[in-house]
Order: sequence, then C-alpha cells, then structure tokens
Amino acid sequence: MQSNKEEQFIIKGLSGKRSLSGSIPVRGAKNVVLKALAATLLFKDEVVISNIPDIEDISRAIELLGDLGAQVNKIRDRTYSIRIPNKPKTELSSVIANKLRASIVFVGPLLVRTGKVSFPHPGGCLLGARPIDQFISGFRALGAKVSVRKLYKAGNLTYIIEAPPKGLVGAEIFFKNPSVTATETLMMTAVGAHGTTVLKNVAMEPEIVALARFLNEGGAKIEGAGTSKITIKGTGLLNGKRAFVIPPDRIEAGSFLLLGALVARDLKITDCNPLHLEALIMHLREMGVSIDVGKNFVRVRGALSLKASNIKTHEYPGFPTDLQAPMTALLTQATGRSLVFETIFEGRFRYLDALSKMGAKFEICDPHRVIVYGPTPLKGSTLMSPDLRAGLAYIIAALVAKGESVIHNVYTIDRGYERIEKRLCAIGADIKRVVS
Ligand code: EPZ
Repeated sequence: MQSNKEEQFIIKGLSGKRSLSGSIPVRGAKNVVLKALAATLLFKDEVVISNIPDIEDISRAIELLGDLGAQVNKIRDRTYSIRIPNKPKTELSSVIANKLRASIVFVGPLLVRTGKVSFPHPGGCLLGARPIDQFISGFRALGAKVSVRKLYKAGNLTYIIEAPPKGLVGAEIFFKNPSVTATETLMMTAVGAHGTTVLKNVAMEPEIVALARFLNEGGAKIEGAGTSKITIKGTGLLNGKRAFVIPPDRIEAGSFLLLGALVARDLKITDCNPLHLEALIMHLREMGVSIDVGKNFVRVRGALSLKASNIKTHEYPGFPTDLQAPMTALLTQATGRSLVFETIFEGRFRYLDALSKMGAKFEICDPHRVIVYGPTPLKGSTLMSPDLRAGLAYIIAALVAKGESVIHNVYTIDRGYERIEKRLCAIGADIKRVVS
C-alpha cells in the first residue's frame, strides 16, 4: 500500500566521474502490465500474469480491479492470478482512477463485460491537457451511448457509457492522433463487438503488440498490431490458457542506458530487448557513446565527451517521449547546442527549472521546444519530482552532479521503477531512501 510518510532519495553526486559498473536487470514493462490487467476483464476464467514489477502504478491497478470485485492473488514473486466475477461493479473508483491515466483503459473491457461503465476523467502525469475525446468518439462509433455528468465537485466529470441492448457493433475508426491508450482500449472493446472493427492511424508501440499477443493467446482474432492499421474480429469473452509473461520495460532500459552513457565505466543492462531501443541507441552512438548490443542486453561505457544532438520525440519507432527528460539531463553534459522538440505533449518540460537550479542552461523556445547548451557542471540540489520520467531525469542529474541532492515526492518515481535505489546501489551509486 502507498506509505503516507514522505520518502526522499539522498544522492551523492559522482562529480562527473564515470564509476558505475556491473549489471542492472530490467523489470517487466509497466505500460504492458497496466493494460494486461485491464484485459483480464475480457477473460471468462482465471488468468495468470508473470514478470509484473513491484511498482505503485501496478498496486493502484490491482486495487482498481479488486474494487470492481476481481480476485487478485499474488501466487509467487512478480506473478499474479486474476479471476473476474460474473457481475463486476460497473463504476471505476474515482479515488484510484484519479491517480492513474491507464484507468481509462479499463473502461473498454468493462463495457464489454457489463454493458455499462461510469468513470471519472483519468488522472496520471501532468503532461498537458491529456484529453479523452478519441476514446469517447471510438465508443460511440462502436454503438455505445455516452453521457457526461458533473457528479462530483465542479471540474470533476463523470462519464457514463452504455452498450446497445443487442451489444456493440464493429466499425471502421480513423484516429485523429495515434494515441497509445486509445488504440489499446478500442482494440480491447472491439474484441467484444459483433463483426469486424478496423482501427486506422493507430499507435505502433511494442506495448500494443504485447497486448494483442496476450488477447490472441486467449482466443481473440487481432491482426496488424504494431502497424498503423489493426483489424479485430469480434469473438466475445476469452479464455486464459497459460501464464502471460510481461516483456521487458523499454523505457526503464533506455533510462539505464542514458545513465550509463554519463557515469558508467562499464555497465551491462540485462533482461531487456535492444530492438525496442533503436532510436535511443542511434542517437547515443552518434554522440560518441560506445554501445554493444546482445540478444537481451545492452552494454555501455561512459563517453569521455559527448557531442550535442537534436532530439525530436515521435510515436514508435521514433524517439520515445518517455525518454525525453532523461535524455535532456544527458544533453546538459554534451558539448554544443542541442534542440529538444517534444512533439507529443505540450506540458512535458516542467522539470527544466529544477535542472537549471543545478546549473544547466536552457533556452525555452515554446511549449514544445527547448535548446540545451552544454556542457555545464551540475551541483547537488533539493528537487521535487513532478512525474515519474522527470524523477528519473533528476536521479541521473544528481548522480552527474558535484555534491549531495535530495529528491522529494519519491512516490512518483516508485510509480514506474521497482526499488530503483537498490538496483543503483548494486552498480556503485550512493543513493539512500529516507523517511522524514
Ligand atoms: C501513453 O500515454 C503512455 N502511458 C505514456 O507513458 C506515454 O508517454 C504516451 O503513451 C506516449 O507514448 C500509458 O501507456 C499508461 P496518448 P497516453 O494518448 O496513451 C493526444 C509513462 O511515463 N490524445 O498517446 O495517455 C494527447 O493529448 C506515461 O509511462 C488526444 O488528443 O498518451 C497527446 O498529445 C506518461 N485525444 C497524444 O494524443 C485522446 O483521446 C498522445 O497521448 C487521447 C490522446
């Protein structure tokens, strides 16, 4: 359960030394687990999922399932069994959903299961507006009725979605934005619709491919996941056959690769899939970082000097927006001007002030573009993590810096990185978790 004491990380900077070494394992992908847990609502019988990381977002998602009436049991380390009752609740808990953007993904499968769902506007990282118009228009395209009420205090909306009495009907839906969670949610909803659904201009992230594989192993008929067009033949509820193993977290792997490029003598990142890191590896090699790639590991040695590089975030397979903040932390140590162009979110630069306080030099051009001038020496500081990826950027900056840093609001980092301080200590970092 979430601790109500304030926890902090105390980090001793390496003052530019490249001294981390050894190997660091990558855990299961948070953004696959969250959707696989939602997808269990489509299964008639018990489902077993393994390689689930022990992180706060997963605890919230398990609480959300439990609140709906699901039986969720931890059967061994990082492995859970989930069984959905015949009549789950039809209302998503606003207390939990307000903490989790991914709560919106539960709406589709729950609508298939029960025919009716009510839920609040989803919470999660503050990265900009984060609308849900594509979800709403997608549910309507599949025949559902959508109404919006202000059931809570002003500002908090409640959406009520109802399937037609004869059930949802397949449709052709063209996405205005290739939204990741909208792609996943409508793909799952279409499993329960009569006939065929074609989703066009959808996201192509590896997390979507993994989710489609999980659903198809349960009897779904989904083709095209990982391309911009996905076809789903409605089959109704599914059967859990064998345990589904969560693939490695590419964003965690990329975060460790960025850390290694800055402060590692010789670091091996294990249990990862290098094929999901091609954009990052291409940039780092161009900047002068030496990287060896194996079947399920990446090996990196800290570069003596880094060349500046222009980064443009883009839907997969482009440079991931979730690595933008950690990459910017690295660019503060690169020689020259680097342009960071964040094309996905309009509010994903909130961490720049804190890095400036440490000594970084930025020129913010507009809500989507910032110029980084480097290299600038960083000094330890007191930091408040605004979201999980910025929090990881702070850890990287604090390890590069001279002197000690304190990072508050560690919950945001624990949302996505399992016991990060233990794994960093194992490769030589001086980082402690303290409770104040
Ligand atoms: C997913 O968020 C990930 N979260 C995010 O990771 C990730 O940053 C993002 O995809 C992009 O890769 C999960 O998978 C739980 P979007 P998501 O919908 O799906 C616009 C992390 O750190 N949009 O792809 O919510 C939206 O405004 C998190 O793990 C609409 O216009 O992102 C944005 O500009 C942070 N209408 C763009 O699409 C909609 O209905 C991308 O948003 C939905 C989205």
